[in-house]
Amino acid sequence: MISVFLGPPGSGKGTQAKKFSAEKGVPQLSTGDMLRQAISAGTALGRSAQEFMSRGALVPDEVVIGLIRERTQRPDCQGGFILDGFPRTIPQATALDALLSEISREVSAAILFEIQDSALVARLTGRRTCVTCGAMYHLLSMPPRKTGVCDQCGGELIQRDDDREDVIRKRLAVYHQQTAPLVEFYRQRGMLSPVDASASPDAVYREVKSKLAVDTQP
Ligand code: AP5
Repeated sequence: MISVFLGPPGSGKGTQAKKFSAEKGVPQLSTGDMLRQAISAGTALGRSAQEFMSRGALVPDEVVIGLIRERTQRPDCQGGFILDGFPRTIPQATALDALLSEISREVSAAILFEIQDSALVARLTGRRTCVTCGAMYHLLSMPPRKTGVCDQCGGELIQRDDDREDVIRKRLAVYHQQTAPLVEFYRQRGMLSPVDASASPDAVYREVKSKLAVDTQP
């Protein structure tokens, strides 16, 4: 199973991919997480990516394609993986097809997280993430038991730099301009499976699981 989770910022791709990955043991490959790790590690790639991410722009295609090429070659990806936030442009999608065809594989499903933009600003300004284990919370809909502290590992909860309202609006505009064309790209290939991302996290998860089960049957 090789699935693409596609949708605007804040639509719940990461929440659902992490849950599916933990339950089914399928690796979640998030280019956003990979880039943030590079920033934390202070690498040259991280310094260059930060300049794009802090203003809500996409990191250049060749950088993220290189990250995915390297990550998909690791042994844990042999049984399949979820791509969370990749591809985000048509050149990334065609590069993905090319690198999968080198190993005689292909994308099996593209799950589209459908939700109105108006719901996303509140979701993103309220998001908090654990610096230690990456667990995600929302101040209103999924608050931690103790303010600022991760329920799972006791780590510190922080707000992402790009979750400021002005940057969120830029990220949404970038999504509609550069990433939304992928909806048609995957629809034309018969791979697109929309889910109602405005429902509760549990309801979205049930829909994602049912789509993946159907889409991965031979
Ligand atoms: P990335 O980290 O991928 O961010 P994103 O796509 O903008 O998505 P988010 O992580 O913001 O949202 P999500 O859909 O995962 O929602 P989440 O589950 O967290 O990318 C960041 C940046 O990196 C990009 O702007 C770009 O610069 C760069 N980048 C990354 N990949 C790239 C690529 N391929 N090419 C070029 N550049 C790239 O949920 C959000 C909040 O909502 C949480 O608080 C959560 O608790 C809450 N929530 C989730 N589901 C629900 C629900 N059903 N109901 C209520 N609340 C919910």
